[in-house]
Order: sequence, then structure tokens, then C-alpha cells
Amino acid sequence: MQKILVARSIFPDVIERLKQYFDVDSNQGDVLAADELKRRLADKDGALTAGEPIDASVLAAAPRLRVVSNMAVGYNNFDMAAFNAANVLGTNTPDVLNESTADFGWALMMAAARRIAESEHWLRAGKWQKWSYDGFLGNDLYGSTLGVIGMGRIGQALARRAKGFNMQVLYHNRSRVAPEIEAELNAEYVSKQDLLRRADHVVLVVPYSKESHHTIGAAELALMKPTATLTNIARGGIVDDAALVEALRSKQIAAAGLDVYEGEPHLNPGLLSVPNVVLTPHIASATEATRRAMANLAADNLIAALGEGPRAGQAPNPINPDVIGKARS
Ligand code: GLV
Repeated sequence: MQKILVARSIFPDVIERLKQYFDVDSNQGDVLAADELKRRLADKDGALTAGEPIDASVLAAAPRLRVVSNMAVGYNNFDMAAFNAANVLGTNTPDVLNESTADFGWALMMAAARRIAESEHWLRAGKWQKWSYDGFLGNDLYGSTLGVIGMGRIGQALARRAKGFNMQVLYHNRSRVAPEIEAELNAEYVSKQDLLRRADHVVLVVPYSKESHHTIGAAELALMKPTATLTNIARGGIVDDAALVEALRSKQIAAAGLDVYEGEPHLNPGLLSVPNVVLTPHIASATEATRRAMANLAADNLIAALGEGPRAGQAPNPINPDVIGKARS
């Protein structure tokens, strides 16, 4: 039997599925430190990860490893150049999380615009004495302008929901999406600067890469309206969190909703001290159904890519399919 490591705890029934095909070493405890990860991968043929960094040094420590299946759509924890050099296949879990993540983007955006977290904290602190005409005034979503940065599958799911709010949709992306998608979403392609100047609510849905690092920093925040909100459901590092703290503190923008952070699970301490930001712990895809679908898809990828199960050899979501069939190097 081939050996695999499940690096992060997942649903027990998914582990049971994997045990039908593999000798499973499963970590149900804390996140594995780099040395421990290397030690546990030393004799493994495959691994299931959820954000663990896998680079050339990890691959070098795991000479048998042929497949790493990430339980996430984003795979910036994989050094794909190292994967390609070593002929190791990476897989991810796209699509199954689109709708839950788009729902959550809206939840954060609405909470930021309507000051839901801020007012709830105030209420819980026993500060509510009377109803007041100017208590927690926010900014409308209905009839406003949505700016989506990153018009991939999740960005499109997010923009589709704007119809019900009668919103104008602006988007920016590395490349324009197909005209029929623009027409369906009633979305206008604009430059990033134009989007930031015109949008009332900006949502970030771009994958993290060196190129997308600090897509939003001080210069970009300075272009936004003082009534605007910024929501990040993409990855930490897309926003310069220190610059955002300053923009929130000085009311350069009205509010922000964040699900992801630079250096998470540690946060820039400034974020904890500004009231006009809604903070959630990387849970945009976290519904029971979607997390189960992601875990099962990650298992499907690993099972198939290691030549087992009904789809042997045909992993549904290969990131670097060119390495399939090549000997590990
Ligand atoms: C979660 O962050 C994912 O990339 O799926």
C-alpha cells in the first residue's frame, strides 16, 4: 500500500475513505512545524495539505512524494517551480467553494457597510441607552457601485448577486472576461485606479502571487471614496494591512471586512484596535456542505493521482498536469 500524510485534521469519514486505498499517517493535532512536516513526509508517496508551505526543501526531504493535494482553491503555499522541477503533481479544490465564498464576501461587505460588528460590540458592552437618529450611520449597498478585483469563478459568483441589489458592477482582472459573461453580469471592465475611484464597495478575489502582493496599499486606498468599504476574501498579502489600519483610523475609507491577513493567524495589532473593520478567521468557505465537498475533492484528487480508485490516473484538478507520467526527480 502507498503511504500518505494527511497534514491537517479533516473530517474523520474522509480519513476513512483514504484508508481504503492508503496507509494513512494523519495529523489531528497542531499545524506541523516545517521540520516535523519533512520528517513525516520522508517515506510518503502523497500528502493532503491545507496551506502547509511545500517548497524545494520539503520536496527534497520527501524523495518518494509524487502528489500533494491542497484542500483549498488557492495554492500559493506550493512553490510550483519546485513542483515542476521535481515532477511532483499539485492539485487544488476549485469550484465547489464558489457560492459559499461569494455569499461570505457579501456578508462581510454588508457587515462593514452597515457597521454590524461595530454596533454589536457596542451593544454587548452595555452602551445602548436610547435609539438615536445618527446611531451607527452606514452606507447603502442597494443601488450603489460594486467593484470586483479578480473576476474569476468566485468574483463572477459575487458579481452575479449584485443584480438583486440593483448595483452597477465594475471589475478589474488580469484580462477581460468573455463578452457574454460581461453581458450576463452587466459588468464594466475598468482599470484598477478607475475602479477604486468609482466603486462604493470594493471586494478582492484575486489569487496571491508576487504580482498581486499589496494590490491594495496606501496609494490605492488614497484613491477610494471616504464612504467606501474594502473587503478581502482572497489572501493575506493582497492588502497592505498596515496601510489599511492607517486608512481606517484616519477614515480615509469608511470600513473594511477582512477574512484573510498578512501573517495569519497572527494579525497586525492595529486591526484589533480600529472599530470600523469586521474581522473573521479565514472562514469564507466554511459551511458544512462546502468544507465536506472540499475535503472529498482533495481526497478524490489524491486517490486518482496516486493511481487508485475509479478515476485512477485522472485527478480532477491537476495544477501542473505536464508532470503527469514523468519520473520523480
Ligand atoms: C481558501 O482560502 C481557499 O483557497 O480555498
